[in-house]
Amino acid sequence: MAILITGGAGYIGSHMVYELADGGELPVVIDDFSSGFKWAIPSGVSVFVEDIGDQRRVAQLIAKFGISEIIHLAASVVVPADRRQRRGKSARPSRARTKEAAD
Ligand SMILES: NC(=O)c1ccc[n+]([C@@H]2O[C@H](COP(=O)([O-])OP(=O)(O)OC[C@H]3O[C@@H](n4cnc5c(N)ncnc54)[C@H](O)[C@@H]3O)[C@@H](O)[C@H]2O)c1
Repeated sequence: MAILITGGAGYIGSHMVYELADGGELPVVIDDFSSGFKWAIPSGVSVFVEDIGDQRRVAQLIAKFGISEIIHLAASVVVPADRRQRRGKSARPSRARTKEAAD
């Protein structure tokens, strides 16, 4: 069973990926590495450097791997004040991207 972990390179996500892999599941990671680390993901796990707001790409990966479950942990835990004031895609809050991914 393939399980998609968004934010799988982050603190909580990487622990989740290890647990799933150790349990014999097939974790697939989407992470934009805005705060995560590649070294935090066990070798052999499929990792895709994507923004969860990219609906087309997320849908492609769900279809490609036959994803049955999604554990959503991608988030900007700390958002500096100057970034909140910037306009554009990178300034959109995590909840907006979560909604896009869910749609
Ligand atoms: N760390 C804790 O103690 C804790 C406790 C309770 C709940 N949580 C929640 O768990 C979630 C993850 O927290 P964390 O501590 O692992 O944070 P983290 O910053 O370590 O991990 C978040 C990951 O999401 C990735 N990411 C951010 N925006 C992205 C995007 N648009 N597309 C793809 N990837 C993106 C980052 O690169 C990073 O790897 C958050 O929702 C947080 O509120 C954390």
